Amino acid sequence: MATVDQIYEPVTVEDGDDLGTNRSSNQPLLEITRTRMSRRTALKGFVTTAAVGALGGTLTSRFALAADGPSTLGFQSLEQVITENHAVAPGYSANVLIRWGDKVLPDAPDFNPTSQTADAQAKQFGYNCDYLAYFPLPRGSDSSEHGLLHVNHEYTAQELMFGGWTKLEAAQAARQAAAWAARQAALEAGQDEAAVEQAATAAAEEADVAGAISKASLAAQTPEQSRIEMMAHNGSVIEVRKENGAWTVVPNSQYARRITMDTEMRVSGPAAGHERMKTNADPTGTTVFGTINNCAGGKTPWGTVLMAEENFHGYFGGELAADSAESRNHERYGVPSGSYAWWRTQDRFDLGKEPNEPNRYGWMVEYDPYDPNSLPVKRTTLGRAKHEGATSFVNKDGRVVLYSGDDERFEYLYRFVTNGTFDPANPEAARDLLDDGTLSVARFDENKVTWLPLVFGEGPLTAENDFHSQADVMIESRRAADLLGATPMDRPEDVEPNPVNGRVYVMLTNNTRRKAEQVDAVNPRAENAHGQVVELIPPGGAGKDADHTADQFDWEFLLIAGDPKKEGSGAQYHPDTEAWISSPDNCAFDNEGRIWISTDQGGEQAKNNIPDGMYACDLSGDGRAYVKFFFACPIGAEMCGPEFTPDGRTLFVAVQHPAEMSDYVSTFENPATRWPDFAEGMPPRPSLVAITKDDGGPIGS
Ligand code: FEO
Ligand code: CA
Ligand code: CA
Repeated sequence: MATVDQIYEPVTVEDGDDLGTNRSSNQPLLEITRTRMSRRTALKGFVTTAAVGALGGTLTSRFALAADGPSTLGFQSLEQVITENHAVAPGYSANVLIRWGDKVLPDAPDFNPTSQTADAQAKQFGYNCDYLAYFPLPRGSDSSEHGLLHVNHEYTAQELMFGGWTKLEAAQAARQAAAWAARQAALEAGQDEAAVEQAATAAAEEADVAGAISKASLAAQTPEQSRIEMMAHNGSVIEVRKENGAWTVVPNSQYARRITMDTEMRVSGPAAGHERMKTNADPTGTTVFGTINNCAGGKTPWGTVLMAEENFHGYFGGELAADSAESRNHERYGVPSGSYAWWRTQDRFDLGKEPNEPNRYGWMVEYDPYDPNSLPVKRTTLGRAKHEGATSFVNKDGRVVLYSGDDERFEYLYRFVTNGTFDPANPEAARDLLDDGTLSVARFDENKVTWLPLVFGEGPLTAENDFHSQADVMIESRRAADLLGATPMDRPEDVEPNPVNGRVYVMLTNNTRRKAEQVDAVNPRAENAHGQVVELIPPGGAGKDADHTADQFDWEFLLIAGDPKKEGSGAQYHPDTEAWISSPDNCAFDNEGRIWISTDQGGEQAKNNIPDGMYACDLSGDGRAYVKFFFACPIGAEMCGPEFTPDGRTLFVAVQHPAEMSDYVSTFENPATRWPDFAEGMPPRPSLVAITKDDGGPIGS
């Protein structure tokens, strides 16, 4: 097994999540921001690097004050160290509930990673678990000891799933080829021996290693491997039960379900049946098989799941016809990026054959987890984006509000408000509530956030700008939002309303491409490697009184992430914070209304030298933004899915892509960790973990 410190030659590969395809010129003013930052810092008394210097002493000693600090969270914060295993705060237990390859359907075969098949994978727990949603059993109860878990399977990592992978050899070959060409050129130019070698070394360093790796690995993938990947995507439903304090998966459950790329789905809303949604396989434009890259999601008040379709661009390949009417549209979404080999064996992912297929992804998918035969529906009213998730709030007037981030550099924050109202006494009537409502996009200024509606025929969303229907506006939501003047954000991930205080929390994960001239009030740092958490404050009052349908909210920072000990980091927390975070991704709220934040540093984990995991802090009082570290992921993994049971005594989390390293040096044969089995020959396995307190108390107490 490779260890954390094992030295490989690094290969830098661009993070496929973060293309940054927004070419609009939307950007607020730098000056506003600077004023805002200094004013807020002074008001809040948050620690900043400048403040640390002024106070004297070291931050390390200030951090050490924390043992009896101001937080209402009772657990002891973990040390932030990367290891091959997970860790949880003292007094808690974290047990693996289900792993990639474990049985979901009753007739699933045992997992054998060296002879995996698509048929087996279609019945087993999928790869890379992201969003989790707990649904009590029986339906309508608030049981915290028996329920269903819906799990999103976001993507696959072929270097860790399949043996014999060729990326490292490809990298080596690319370097050698580049060095050879440079050496020849230098020799022909009559340069001396030292200069020739220098040219060769420089060329090797600059070789297109990422391109070579990608090409070689995709070329080597077998059709069966592509099918395995397709069956490892989408979702699982498992039945879980807590007995004698321990959670287990109920075998042979009547609710057990795998949703895969073979699962039929219906398209609803304004884009359903539109010309731009039609393909050779589906001349009606209303039926799609599967959903791709399901990152986070949400639960509706009527007991269904929302699975967000995020980085769909990576699954398409081939050549779009030069005169295609979809060229501008596909370019705005970064299609194709060819991260998967599927398009070589599946016509629908080949743009040369099916130019409209990408228009059938990027939606929000809703289904009923209590019915294993329910037909998932792609709700096109919620717009087409690289949706991180969609979380809901029942407004006091009964309308349902959903918030969603478009997770890419310089993309936008969206809100959807239903026209109809939700009646808790008649949840059945809400079945198609999401087919009718208004999608808006956020524009931030110094103090306010304004919601701008994406409605065909209003403002710039007319034929003049090539929008001919609401279907066009929804299919090209990003371009519509560009024209409305939305604020380009630092990668909006989870956006969640807090039911206790009625405020909305926006995880902005990072954006290293923001330049100094592009900073604004809510995205205040250039080359933002760590992100920030923004608090939106609807008018009307706290909790249930908050009016989430209002045109304008106030906003504040909860924290600005990064290491406050680093000079110039711009990080802001409670001055005595016990832990620092990078790249907030998802969040959840406990019954006290405190925030629990999961992180995903992606390829930056090694550089930051802290693990991903669960962090928590108070949102009010003396402990606001005083962060404690609760659960550490094993090396290479990001933390996903935080989901509490209704009693707050179990926290389910998803450990996604253990052992994944951005430079692809960690492989099936030689992974950075073999978590969670630690058995020779067994690859790392993305898994769900159930966390409980040893004394049976609420998580965080
Ligand atoms: Fe799949 Fe936005 O993380
Ligand atoms: Ca995410
Ligand atoms: Ca993520």
